[in-house]
Amino acid sequence: MSKIDPCTLVLFGASGNLSRVKLMPGLFRLDSIGRLPAELKILSVGRQDISLAAWRDEIKSMLDAKFKKGYDPKVFERFIARNYYHANPPNDPDAFKNLRAKLVFDTVFPQNIAYFLSVRPVDFAPVVDQLAEVGLVTEKDGHWRRVVIEKPFGTDLPSAQELQKSISKHLKESQIYRIDHYLGKSALQNILLQRFTNTILEPIWNNQYIDHVQITNTEMLGVGDRTQFYDSTGALRDMLQSHILQTLALTAMEQPKDLTPEGVRDAKIKVLEEIRPIPVNELDKYAFRAQYAAGEVNGERVPGYLEELGDSSSVVETYAALKLFIDNPRWKGVPFYIRTAKRLHEADTRISIRFKKAPMQINDQDQNWLIIGIQPRECIKMEIQSKIPGLDIKTRTIQLDAANRQEGDDTVDAYEALLLNLMEGDNSNYLHISEAEAQWRLVDPVVKAWAENRKPVHQYPAGSRDPEASKVIFEAEDQFWRYSIELGGDKH
Ligand SMILES: NC(=O)c1ccc[n+]([C@@H]2O[C@H](COP(=O)([O-])OP(=O)(O)OC[C@H]3O[C@@H](n4cnc5c(N)ncnc54)[C@H](OP(=O)(O)O)[C@@H]3O)[C@@H](O)[C@H]2O)c1
Repeated sequence: MSKIDPCTLVLFGASGNLSRVKLMPGLFRLDSIGRLPAELKILSVGRQDISLAAWRDEIKSMLDAKFKKGYDPKVFERFIARNYYHANPPNDPDAFKNLRAKLVFDTVFPQNIAYFLSVRPVDFAPVVDQLAEVGLVTEKDGHWRRVVIEKPFGTDLPSAQELQKSISKHLKESQIYRIDHYLGKSALQNILLQRFTNTILEPIWNNQYIDHVQITNTEMLGVGDRTQFYDSTGALRDMLQSHILQTLALTAMEQPKDLTPEGVRDAKIKVLEEIRPIPVNELDKYAFRAQYAAGEVNGERVPGYLEELGDSSSVVETYAALKLFIDNPRWKGVPFYIRTAKRLHEADTRISIRFKKAPMQINDQDQNWLIIGIQPRECIKMEIQSKIPGLDIKTRTIQLDAANRQEGDDTVDAYEALLLNLMEGDNSNYLHISEAEAQWRLVDPVVKAWAENRKPVHQYPAGSRDPEASKVIFEAEDQFWRYSIELGGDKH
């Protein structure tokens, strides 16, 4: 267990949804398993002028809502005593000076300070500016100052660079913690470990043996009440640009020189920068988008996206698929198909790797697959050929199936892991600016081309499998979406 310096966590936007659902409950859980430093203090900053007692009641209501089966009252007493509140009225010119006075002169707060900006993305840069103006991000006397920037880091390459330019006036790269919460998931961290701590995987993890790779994230849910947010974002920017490209980086990266934050991030940056830009003049061969229409999910009729949005002219995708190539010796010629969708037939996040045809073909058998389940099942599966017992020489596919998660294992939420990493000063599971830039550089031309093409978007019925038309992006006739993690999930 690593030693964490005494520190103060300053939470901007602590009354918001993310804080309510993830941050406060996550900090409470870390406290309950003894992972918070005894001296940690949490200072929530908000626009509302409320008393400390009222704020502590509010935290209790967050915990009650999250932990319906109850929690240990002793841990609660300890946790609640760590919590403070500071009102930062938006129109008060002295708001940040007052914050400084509280943080620096009130001896209750340790001077290693992490600011978690769980606020609207438009507020990221102004909050950093105002903290800097009053000297609250300057590291001195051996005390660290860190700033967590929530997702999204920009909405395209220019806006990401503008945000970077603004915050880097005040912060060194080592002080900036950019969130992609997928990186806090144990299942994602396991990709790197499973790949490089097993002798049998590395020798076949290349273009000599691998036919193609699919990285999939599908949901059965629709956009729900987030229609306005979703229609200004779309599947490509919401999921592929961030979580799925990070999953790809972990799947395809070279072995890092070590497991230090620099080692891991350097290897990820390298592979992200080696992804070939998508040729916009041949976009239809590389990118496919669609929207869900009305259909049936879990036996219930559900409306289509355009109906939910109330705007039939929207061309924003709820299904996005890309074909990518990585220009390095390991992956030359191997397509990576990545896709994300709402309202598909099942909810699943996985990496599916199909191997090349075996030299011996007995009955035109299936090719081997190796599948890494991320959620809901954390597992590794391998599909291999095996003789059907009996007089004939025939094979069938069997699946070796191992759960990565075993009974009694810790269930740690991604935000808990990330909060702990933040306090430890370990930014390996946070994005480096070069990763954020490489990811935007890759998707921006597609986002732009799709936004400019106002033709009605392909529709798929809610609850269905991948739209038939999405197959246009496949390189070879015998490639197709694997629709399920289960045996037979590669059949049409
Ligand atoms: N919710 C999630 O699961 C999730 C997932 C991924 C990324 N994120 C990112 O995390 C951040 C927070 O998300 P959230 O869902 O918690 O946001 P939220 O609930 O909409 O708002 C967070 C806080 O921002 C302040 N705020 C809201 N509207 C404001 C306004 N008009 N002017 C000034 N301040 C305002 C409020 O704080 P006070 O009133 O206390 O000042 C509010 O508690 C966002 O950047 C979001 O993109 C969230």
